[in-house]
Amino acid sequence: PADSGEGRGHPRQVFNAKTAELICHHQVEINQSFPKEGWVEEDPREIMQSVYECMERTCEKLCQLNISVSNIKAVGVTNQRETTLVWDKETGEPLYNAIVWLDLRTQSTVERLINKAPGRNKNHLKHKTGLPISTYFSAVKLRWLLDNVDEIQEAMLDGRAMFGTVDSWIIWCLTGGRNGGVHCTDVSNASRTMLFNIHSMDWDPELCRYFDVPMEILPKVRSSSEIYGCMVSADKLACLGDQSAALVGQMCFKEGQAKNTYGTGCFLLRNTGTKPVMSEHGLLTTVAYKMGKDEPACYALEGSVAIAGAVVRWLKDNMGIVQSSSEIEKLAAAAGSSYGCYFVPAFSGLYAPYWEPSARGIICGLTQFTNRNHLAFAALEAVCFQTREILDAMNQDSGVPLTQLQVDGGMTSNRLLMQLQADILCMPVVRPTMSETTALGAAMAAGAAEGVQVWTLSPDQLPHVTSEKYEPQINSDESEFRFGRWKKAVQKAMNWET
Ligand code: G3P
Repeated sequence: PADSGEGRGHPRQVFNAKTAELICHHQVEINQSFPKEGWVEEDPREIMQSVYECMERTCEKLCQLNISVSNIKAVGVTNQRETTLVWDKETGEPLYNAIVWLDLRTQSTVERLINKAPGRNKNHLKHKTGLPISTYFSAVKLRWLLDNVDEIQEAMLDGRAMFGTVDSWIIWCLTGGRNGGVHCTDVSNASRTMLFNIHSMDWDPELCRYFDVPMEILPKVRSSSEIYGCMVSADKLACLGDQSAALVGQMCFKEGQAKNTYGTGCFLLRNTGTKPVMSEHGLLTTVAYKMGKDEPACYALEGSVAIAGAVVRWLKDNMGIVQSSSEIEKLAAAAGSSYGCYFVPAFSGLYAPYWEPSARGIICGLTQFTNRNHLAFAALEAVCFQTREILDAMNQDSGVPLTQLQVDGGMTSNRLLMQLQADILCMPVVRPTMSETTALGAAMAAGAAEGVQVWTLSPDQLPHVTSEKYEPQINSDESEFRFGRWKKAVQKAMNWET
């Protein structure tokens, strides 16, 4: 899935196994529903329909290019992580909508859990999970489903319930569903549930007891690059969570390499090699990938920002300020500056580095002069400031500052955003010209399971892999001044009630 502010899409891309070149692709948008304030859901059936439609149309496109579909070596699945589903293994039907990662319905559960943790420490489970207790992760969403949906309770008691993130649902359906579908997930997705021990690399009985989640409904955890099963149409499957896939697609295999992906949210991942590094500055420790059953797991430090492309979508869908997300660039360019307006889009609380679920969005510094162009500029600047916050935290944690930022994702086609990002970070920002890095990473994991390792190729074997670099154009005093103001606005967003 990808979201540049325009809408959610479920794409399918086909890459050349010898050169990693994109051959053809197709994308279908899916809907999100907001049944109550703070709730965000997706229809699991619609997710599958979009997957089937994308596969069909991509295969048609391959045929038009005179490439036989039988040449497909393997299929990689990539997905939004944390989004939580429960389905009935006998009927094959979902028992509720998917609860999307951004959803805030579990805020009171999270507050209760933090209150009863020793010292009210939200990092109480971090030594096992790498994560703070937050509405973001799957365990609390699953708890909500078990507590509030009668059909799920019944199915659980009857031994019919299956839990999974979107990858598990897709893999189960593609491998036959109720007729023998494979119920599994990969380590990168499992590590976002809060039920997974990132050291032992397995579901943790103590964590499951803590959230009162029955272990029988969990999928089997596999590496990110092995054949889980065959699709009904005979292709072989492997899988990687979307942010891990982007890390792989950007070829960040070495310790210290990092990428930032701008989708609905913004996710900066830095490869820390085979050792999990615990953050002292509000970042997550997550399993990046495990490229084969017998390969070691690689970890990453992650800075997660909940709202990036979603702020543009909000300006479009809720405020009607733009008709399409690409329009935002024109508006912001016309303003040239926010003229002192700061926009903190804390719609789902604030994630890294604050982890404050009660924060709410604010726009401040308005004057009679402010118009929609300034607001558009402030929204783009907010994405850049949030990235600066997680990059600063990452530099502090690792002690080895990044000297440039590799970026990808839908929003990176916005050149003004890229320039602003370089200005606010005071460092170059590098964007690959092929924007489908997430899909490429998933394809690479799948290919590797079939013995195709495109990352071992030298740059001259990959002539189509090109990038664009944005150099900072303002001085660091100017950048620091604006960032200081942003930080004041963030304090207001966190204390808006007092
Ligand atoms: O952790 C959430 C992430 O996997 C979703 O990414 O921005 O594509 O919705 P995004």
